[in-house]
Amino acid sequence: MRGMKRPAANQKTLSKLSGSLVLVGAGKMGSAMLDGWLGRGLSPRRVVVIEPQPSKATKALARRGVGLNPKPGPKVKADAAAAIVIAVKPQTAPDAVPPLGLHVSKSTLVLSIMAGRTIGFLEKSLPAGTAIVRAMPNTPAAIGRGITVAVANTKVSPRQRKLAGDLLAAVGKVEWVNDEALMDALTALSGSGPAYVFLLAEAMTKAGIAAGLPPALAARLTRETVAGSGELLHRSDIDAATLRQNVTSPGGTTAAALEVLMGPGGFDELLTKAIAAATKRSRDLAG
Ligand SMILES: NC(=O)c1ccc[n+]([C@@H]2O[C@H](COP(=O)([O-])OP(=O)(O)OC[C@H]3O[C@@H](n4cnc5c(N)ncnc54)[C@H](OP(=O)(O)O)[C@@H]3O)[C@@H](O)[C@H]2O)c1
Repeated sequence: MRGMKRPAANQKTLSKLSGSLVLVGAGKMGSAMLDGWLGRGLSPRRVVVIEPQPSKATKALARRGVGLNPKPGPKVKADAAAAIVIAVKPQTAPDAVPPLGLHVSKSTLVLSIMAGRTIGFLEKSLPAGTAIVRAMPNTPAAIGRGITVAVANTKVSPRQRKLAGDLLAAVGKVEWVNDEALMDALTALSGSGPAYVFLLAEAMTKAGIAAGLPPALAARLTRETVAGSGELLHRSDIDAATLRQNVTSPGGTTAAALEVLMGPGGFDELLTKAIAAATKRSRDLAG
C-alpha cells in the first residue's frame, strides 16, 4: 500500500555485547526488556538478574543460563558490568541503587527506566563519574512496540550511547533528548499516553452502548477500531490530521461527531489540560 513503512528487519544488535549485563528488577518492564534483549541475540550467559521475587518465566531463563540473584561476595567488585539496567519502582531506588556501585567501573553504563528519578539522584547514589542514561519507556514495550525517550549525562561515551540505544530498541522505538527538563512533559505524553488511549476506548464503548448497541458488540467494535486505527497510523507516512480528514466527508456522520469533539471544551482543550496536569505531577514527584 502506498505511504506505508516497511517493518524493520529483525536485528541481532546485542549478539556482540562484551561483558555482562545486570538487570535490576525483572517486573513487567524489566522482563519485557530482557525478552527483547535475548530476542536480539544477547547470550543468556551474559545476563545477571537481581530480583527478589522472580517470576516463573525468569526462573526458566535461569535454567537457560541467565544468572539469577548471585550471592554477593568479595569477587563481586571484579565483576564490573558492561551495563546495569535499573527497572525497579522509583520508591525502591534509595535502597536498590547505592549497592549497585559495586558492579560499576569506568566502562559501565547505567541505564535507568525509573519514572521521576533524575540523573542528579542517580549521580549522587552511584560512584563519581558513572555514565548514566535516564529513559522513559511506555507499556506497549510489553509487545515490542513501545516508544522510549532517553537522556544521557556528560560521562556517557558514544559507544555507551549506542549500547543504551540498542538495549532500549529491543522493546520499540527510541528518541533521544539533550535536555532532561523535557522528561516531565514527555512522561506526560508518551509515558502516560497509553492510558489516554485506553480511556478513549472505554469512553467509545460506553457511548456505543448509550447509542443502543449491545455491550459486547460495542466493546469488540471499539477494540478493533482503536487497534486498527493505531496500526494504520503506525504504518502510514501520512500525519494524523490527514488520516482524520480522509474519513470525514463534508456534512457526513464523522463530521457531525467531530464538530462536537473539536468544539469548545473538546479533545484539544481536555488533552492540553490533562497533559499539563501530568507534567506538573511529574515535576512535583521528581527526585
Ligand atoms: N510500566 C510502565 O508503563 C512504565 C513506564 C515507564 C517507566 N516505568 C518504570 O519502570 C520501572 C519498573 O516498572 P514496572 O511496571 O516493571 O514495575 P514492577 O512490575 O513492580 O517491577 C519492579 C520489580 O523490581 C523488583 N524489585 C524491588 N526491589 C528490588 C531490589 N532491591 N532489587 C531488585 N529488584 C527489586 C520488584 O520486586 P517486588 O515485586 O518483590 O517488589 C518487581 O519485580 C519503574 O521505575 C517505573 O517507573 C514503567
